[in-house]
Amino acid sequence: MKRILTGITPSGYPHLGNYIGAIKPSLDLLDEKCESFLFIADLHAVIKVSDPNKLEELSTAIAMAWLASGLDPNTTSFYRQSDVPEITELAWLLSCITEKGLLNRAHAYKAAVDQNNESGKKEMDEGISLGLFSYPLLMASDILTPNATHVPVGKDQQQHLEITRDIAEKFNSRYGKFFNVPEAVIQNEKTVLGTDGRKMSKSYNNIIPLLSNEKELRKSVMKIVTNSQEPGEKKEWKDNTLFAIYSSFASVEKQENMKNLFEDGIGWGDAKQKVFEDLNQMLLPIREKFMELSNNKKFIEEILKSGAEKVRLQTVPALKEVKKLVGISRL
Ligand code: TRP
Repeated sequence: MKRILTGITPSGYPHLGNYIGAIKPSLDLLDEKCESFLFIADLHAVIKVSDPNKLEELSTAIAMAWLASGLDPNTTSFYRQSDVPEITELAWLLSCITEKGLLNRAHAYKAAVDQNNESGKKEMDEGISLGLFSYPLLMASDILTPNATHVPVGKDQQQHLEITRDIAEKFNSRYGKFFNVPEAVIQNEKTVLGTDGRKMSKSYNNIIPLLSNEKELRKSVMKIVTNSQEPGEKKEWKDNTLFAIYSSFASVEKQENMKNLFEDGIGWGDAKQKVFEDLNQMLLPIREKFMELSNNKKFIEEILKSGAEKVRLQTVPALKEVKKLVGISRL
């Protein structure tokens, strides 16, 4: 049986890029024939979020975004990473068999080192936490604790899956086959662009929010960069940020229609209004469900607690078994 698992790090407010790149694909992949594990990677977020109130708020926002988008906690184990202590326990055991060099090559760490070198820092590791360095190790533990087989992720996480596979194989060859060697499932090859044409990301300040009100949503769509062409002039849809963003959520038919409007010289203001209207229509049910959930935090807490209990039915015995294999058992 397929065991599908994925996590989202609550390091920013959920935006359209999260929805199209992670939330929606994770839900589309599920069917009655698979077991599924979806979680809030709040321990990963501690690396980036230093304000405790913010961390709590962001974790709840991601939980609500997932639930509002259709996650069914009755058929999925939906939990917070921090409610499952077997994850951090396994992370230690895995760290004992993982070569440091494997993590030296991880791209987030390499990027941080490069940045230090470029800015002329004497010590290449300056300001880099051990948490950031071992990020992929904790991720491997997320995946291996419930022994997942398939992991839907964005392309930027592919390397972390390779690292996870290496670690699983190393464990299996040393102690006997215990872990599945999980596969990455890359559903969305295209990255969702932000309002300035770069990848949509909180750090670029170019996001289109997922859970905002209509007014804010409209404002962020109006911010999408275009050019100085006048209404009536034929517009090129290729390599156009507004069209690229539209194509990340609109149906093929709607995209064809928009291409025609571009050819016919629609003004940028009118085109943006159309993108806003279609996006708003898509997000309306999500927003309504979100508002409902916002008034019921207790309910969310219960869902997450019982999700953790559900996944621990698997992770507690798994850890016991792993420890036995490693040589840690009780007399
Ligand atoms: N690193 C992932 C991201 O930033 C989040 C994540 C944490 C994850 N643990 C995971 C994804 C395990 C898949 C499986 O998006």
